[in-house]
Amino acid sequence: MNATMSLEKTKHYPVMLNQILSIISPQHGGTFIDCTFGGGGYSQAILKFPDTKVLALDRDKLTRKYANILEKKFPKRFNFFQEKFSNLNKVTSPDLNPKAVIFDLGLSSFQLSDKERGFTFKSKNFLSMEMGINEYSAYDVINTLDKEYLATIIKVLGEEKDGRIIANKIVKHREKKPIKTSEELASIINEAKKNYNNYKKNPATKTFQAIRIFVNKELTELMLGLIEASKLLSNGGILIVVSFHSLEDRIVKNFFNLYSNLRKNPSRYLPIMENKSNLFKLFSKKPLVADEKEIKQNIRSRSAKLRYAVRNSNSFFYPDEFKKKFANYFKLEGSRS
Ligand SMILES: C[S@@+](CC[C@H](N)C(=O)[O-])C[C@H]1O[C@@H](n2cnc3c(N)ncnc32)[C@H](O)[C@@H]1O
Repeated sequence: MNATMSLEKTKHYPVMLNQILSIISPQHGGTFIDCTFGGGGYSQAILKFPDTKVLALDRDKLTRKYANILEKKFPKRFNFFQEKFSNLNKVTSPDLNPKAVIFDLGLSSFQLSDKERGFTFKSKNFLSMEMGINEYSAYDVINTLDKEYLATIIKVLGEEKDGRIIANKIVKHREKKPIKTSEELASIINEAKKNYNNYKKNPATKTFQAIRIFVNKELTELMLGLIEASKLLSNGGILIVVSFHSLEDRIVKNFFNLYSNLRKNPSRYLPIMENKSNLFKLFSKKPLVADEKEIKQNIRSRSAKLRYAVRNSNSFFYPDEFKKKFANYFKLEGSRS
C-alpha cells in the first residue's frame, strides 16, 4: 500500500501531510492520536518512523478495512477504534501522554465518491449522509423536520441566505411524496434557487453542507473533540486541526484565541493579569494553508486551514466561555453542551 492507498480506484491524498509531519516530528518517536483516520494517510506516514505508536479513531465503519491493513503490518504500534472523537476519553487512558492529537475534519475522498452514502448531488441511493454512529439520516431530517427549523439549519449551518425559500420548496415536495435520494433533493434546491445556471458551484452545495453537518452533529463533535484533546494532552503535546469551511475554522480559531497565550487582555484599563485559562502556546493567529503544488494535485486542499498550538503545563479547567460562545450551535444540532 502506498501513500495514495492504491487499494482503491479513488485517489486519496492526505491533506497538508508534509506540514503536519514537520510540526509533529515523528522521527523522534512518540505516541500520536489520529482522530480522523479516514483512508489512514496520516497514520501510515507516522508509522513509517520506527519509534512511533498511533492510536486512531474514525466513526465510519468502512474505514475498518484500511485500519486492518495497518494493524496487520504494525501489530504492536497501531490501534484502531470505531468511535466518535467526542468520546476520545473512552478509548484513551489519562496517562497516555500523546505527542500530538490530530484532527483532519470533514469527509474523506472515499466517502465523497461513494454514491451509496448520498453525499453527492447525483446519488440515486438512499438519502443517508451518515458518517457513522448517527441518530438519524438526511432522509429523516428532510422529510420530517419542522419547516422553520429546517430553514434555520440551512441558513446557519450552510450559510445559505435562501434557507427559508429552500425549506418551503422541500416541504411542498415532501407533502406530495417523500424525498428519497440526494439527486431528488438537489433538483428541488435547484428549483428554489433563482438563476441557478449562473452559479459556479452547484446551487445545492450550501444546503447539502448544512444537512450533512446537522446529521452528523459536526460542530458539536468538533467542540467536544477539542475539549477532550486538551484534557488529554500534557506539557509539550501538540493539538492540530485541519478544517475545510468557515464554521469549523471559526470554532478552532476561537478555541485557540480563548485558551492560548495570544488571548487579549479583557480591557486595556485593567492590569495585565496572569491568565489561568491559558492552556496553549500559539505561534501564529493565522492558519497555514496548502501550497500551490498540493492544490494542483488535490483540489480539496484549496480550502484547507491548518491551526496548531502546543499545550503547556497548566491544569485543565472547564471551558465554560467557549461553550457559551457557541451555545447556539449546540442547541441547533440538538446536543446538550
Ligand atoms: C478528511 S477524512 C480524514 C483523512 C485522513 N487524514 C487520511 O489521511 O486518510 C475525515 C475522516 O474523519 C472521520 N470523522 C469525521 N468526524 C468524525 C468524528 N466526529 N469522530 C470520528 N471520526 C470522524 C470521517 O468519517 C472521515 O473518515
